[in-house]
Amino acid sequence: MKGTKGKPVYLDASQPIDKRIEDLISRMTLEEKVGQTVQYSTFQEKDEALIRQGLIGSFLNVIGAEQTNKIQKIAVEQSRLGIPLIFGLDVIHGFKTIFPIPLGIASSWEPDLAKQTASVAAAEASSEGVRWTFAPMVDIARDPRWGRIAEGAGEDPYLGSAMARSYVEGFQGNDLSKHGTLVACAKHYVAYGGAEGGRDYNTVDVSERTLRDVYLPPFEAAVKAGVGTIMSAFNDLGGVPASCNSFTLTTILRGEWGFEGFVVSDWNSIRELINHGVAATPSEAAKKAFEAGVDMDMVGGVYQTCLVQLVKDGEVSEKTLDAAVRRVLRIKFKLGLFEHPYVELGMSSKVIKRKEHVALALEAARKSIVLLKNKEPILPLKKDVKTIAVIGPLADNQPDLLGCWSFTGEPEDVVTILDGIKRKVSMKTRILYSKGCELEGTAKTEFEDATKKAKEADVAILVVGEGRFITGEASSRSTLDLPGVQDELVKTVFETGVPLVLVLVNGRPLSISWVAEHVPAILEAWHPGIQGGNAVADILFGDYNPAGRLPVTFPRTVGQVPIYYNYKNTGRPASSERWTSKYIDLPVTPLFPFGHGLSYTNFEYSNLRIVPDRIKVNGKVKVTVDIQNVGARKGDEVVQLYIRDVVASVTRPVKELKGFKRITLEPGEKRSVEFTLGLEELAFTNIDMKRVIEPGAIEVMVGKSSEDIQLKGKFEIIA
Ligand code: GLC
Repeated sequence: MKGTKGKPVYLDASQPIDKRIEDLISRMTLEEKVGQTVQYSTFQEKDEALIRQGLIGSFLNVIGAEQTNKIQKIAVEQSRLGIPLIFGLDVIHGFKTIFPIPLGIASSWEPDLAKQTASVAAAEASSEGVRWTFAPMVDIARDPRWGRIAEGAGEDPYLGSAMARSYVEGFQGNDLSKHGTLVACAKHYVAYGGAEGGRDYNTVDVSERTLRDVYLPPFEAAVKAGVGTIMSAFNDLGGVPASCNSFTLTTILRGEWGFEGFVVSDWNSIRELINHGVAATPSEAAKKAFEAGVDMDMVGGVYQTCLVQLVKDGEVSEKTLDAAVRRVLRIKFKLGLFEHPYVELGMSSKVIKRKEHVALALEAARKSIVLLKNKEPILPLKKDVKTIAVIGPLADNQPDLLGCWSFTGEPEDVVTILDGIKRKVSMKTRILYSKGCELEGTAKTEFEDATKKAKEADVAILVVGEGRFITGEASSRSTLDLPGVQDELVKTVFETGVPLVLVLVNGRPLSISWVAEHVPAILEAWHPGIQGGNAVADILFGDYNPAGRLPVTFPRTVGQVPIYYNYKNTGRPASSERWTSKYIDLPVTPLFPFGHGLSYTNFEYSNLRIVPDRIKVNGKVKVTVDIQNVGARKGDEVVQLYIRDVVASVTRPVKELKGFKRITLEPGEKRSVEFTLGLEELAFTNIDMKRVIEPGAIEVMVGKSSEDIQLKGKFEIIA
């Protein structure tokens, strides 16, 4: 077909995308169609010939405008149809301006912050030729042994859905064809965080109801937000691996949700169907995955080597292939790659690490830090303290503050916590530094030095936690203790009697029971990104009033795992009675609960209104509460709304987060906060596996955390 000015329709930007897709598909050979389902990682000279023949559709891990332009030129100017490549990369929490890890961003309970950081990451990455990010990771995680808990938004589907929506909006903007945007990829579809034993890549076996009420909601939120791609997960899912599970990939994703983007496998996860034991050969693996709904093979090479023959043999219909190719091409057209396949050279120098990006990194780090404990209160510290001892393997450490998935970041861009403190205190203040020990291992070489300096100080600030590479992918831990001899370092410094503040730099909840009992003040900083040092110092010395809240439960010991706030009541809820659901050697309550976080000021909750107090199943309830800052400092409060469906056709959690708002109040200021509860918030998967609202009583709880409920009420749903 010819478009205007004699151009083929598919090259005519004035034509509707669907028309251009059909024209292009009609011109493609079988081999070229399969080429669009093939993704390579990094580029080698030998790949040129395949690109020229139209046999590769995408690359990941190719970075740099010069490099991507060079490779793109081969595809666009030297292949028969000139179909552009799409370059993907893991831009998870920043590209060059590295933000706190996603678990930290989730601790802000501010979805708009996630959106802003994603938008900056998109601007920076796209200036270097990337147009597709393998983010947001939206896996619900209830097991902190799983290293990838660092990459997501924690244990709750409602908070996780809000974050998923905002990340997609931030990465994709409102027009993917605009430069500075990335097509997003909600991953890892699905229930990857449910790995048994918290062991990465391990088996997941959850009920369909748990799948629908816990693991799927953030993906549905991402799809509703218009996410362009989805990544299928590594894990087995109830006997059918996620990368060949037609129930999740087609029945739910496309059938129920109407997802129109494309699905890319995780790294080699299609070929790994052979390891799972559901395919005997690469060809069988390719057929299973392709027919289940995986459109692109990330570096597995099985689509590349098997799909053409499968179609020729009638094993896979060309119609199915066309459908997959259509979905890939639609994203390429939406990105504007046919009109603008190249990146403007030199753009990155105008975009990367601009001062407003770095300022956002500071804001994000400040908002993500959680004040876990502040007895006496010892914090905030005075800036003219005479002598401060800063101790710990993460105090003067740049690379580890970047966190997992920060390979494009530069350690030298990180402000260390030691530097942040040095910049904050008065000229007269003496700062003594000791590493104390290594992040891992048994050596106590600097314990003596740490002890000596603690004894000379008026206050000691301990900075301990996890190196970035024992969090994230393939980093499951069998314990949640501080690694190495850091626990002993804390005890050694504690025994000097110096007033003590502890800063955690980590990527997962840690079972810091001894620390929580003995150390008067604890800050959870997560891996805070390039501005971590300044943000921690701002909070330690009172220039910023912390308001972060935990998006995950902190267990007392790993023996409590899995432990999460939205648990079921059981027939024998834990009590002092022996014959109830509990441990005989440990309380069932967590060390720090979901939603927990303190402030340097205080907030009072009053005047809960629930209107109306009876609704029909399709009705809405408005819940309003008054919040007053009754302290002497301005501060943020994260007002949390939980519900409990008291009696239903299936067991329901003892509470579920169904609303939250982070508000800023001046001292004395009082404000009404309003929530609406409707279908979105009240529906659940009932006995017939249908998403419905059932009649009955709904308890309403409003508070500062899942445990610190301030006001209660209820309303009735009538048939
Ligand atoms: C990895 C991860 C996935 C990532 C992909 C590409 O194995 O599971 O999250 O996006 O490969 O790097």
